[in-house]
Amino acid sequence: MRNEACVYLVGAGPGDPELLTLKAYRLLQEADVVVYDRLVSQAILDLIPAGTSRIFVGKASGNHHMNQEEINELLAGLARRARNVVRLKGGDPLIFGRGSEEALHLVRQGVRFEIVPGITAASACTTYAGIPLTHRGLAGSVRFIAGHCRGDQPLELNWKSLADPDTTLVIYMGLANLEEIQYQLITAGLSASTPVALIENGSTQQQRRLLARLDSLAATACAEQVVSPALVVIGRVVALAGELDWFAEMATDDYLDCSAQA
Ligand SMILES: C[S@@+](CC[C@H](N)C(=O)[O-])C[C@H]1O[C@@H](n2cnc3c(N)ncnc32)[C@H](O)[C@@H]1O
Repeated sequence: MRNEACVYLVGAGPGDPELLTLKAYRLLQEADVVVYDRLVSQAILDLIPAGTSRIFVGKASGNHHMNQEEINELLAGLARRARNVVRLKGGDPLIFGRGSEEALHLVRQGVRFEIVPGITAASACTTYAGIPLTHRGLAGSVRFIAGHCRGDQPLELNWKSLADPDTTLVIYMGLANLEEIQYQLITAGLSASTPVALIENGSTQQQRRLLARLDSLAATACAEQVVSPALVVIGRVVALAGELDWFAEMATDDYLDCSAQA
């Protein structure tokens, strides 16, 4: 860390502490204060030295402990008083993370900042669920989509352009709008039998992966009582999840027996 005050906007990844970057880990060891939100896992918080100040700023959808303006002010204020501030965010700070809003506030206040990328949920959760985002012959492109609008406004998405069978759709924050997403994509021409996955608590020991078809997406989430944080993946690549389910297999006794013998 530098001698002058700085706010480090750091991505914590989706939950597994081993997915932190070396830089994120080092900054956590050197911080005077860590400001974190709900998506940062306990396993990652456990890596912060005992003497470091921690400030929880909340931010579950619709249940903000502090609003964004207050968080912006808090970061700038801390930087003026403490030397090293780590603003720790789930996943990547710049993907549906409002890291750029915080950075804009800091730069306008004359506060130095750096940004450390993290592994975003779309990458980690699909990987841990055995779903490649692209695969030759199945998907040549990926779209990251916010499935929730500010103030619970109706989704304003270009459904025609999203209903592309060669594209994998990854929907963040979509749980409250699954019926709408399912209906709009099928109406726009995406096959009702397109495979979909719901990944809850991805990359953690609590990960749950549910597989379904597009026309049963909302019903599956409801029947299985899927809770946040959860990611929705829609596209032909999801069909590979059965064969590539390495993370679930790691937890079985068979696997542990094999690795013990190796
Ligand atoms: C406000 S966005 C933050 C995204 C974050 N900046 C990132 O890059 O992953 C929160 C949404 O990310 C997704 N998400 C984040 N972590 C997740 C996890 N461990 N498992 C499943 N979904 C996750 C969920 O859709 C959740 O509602």
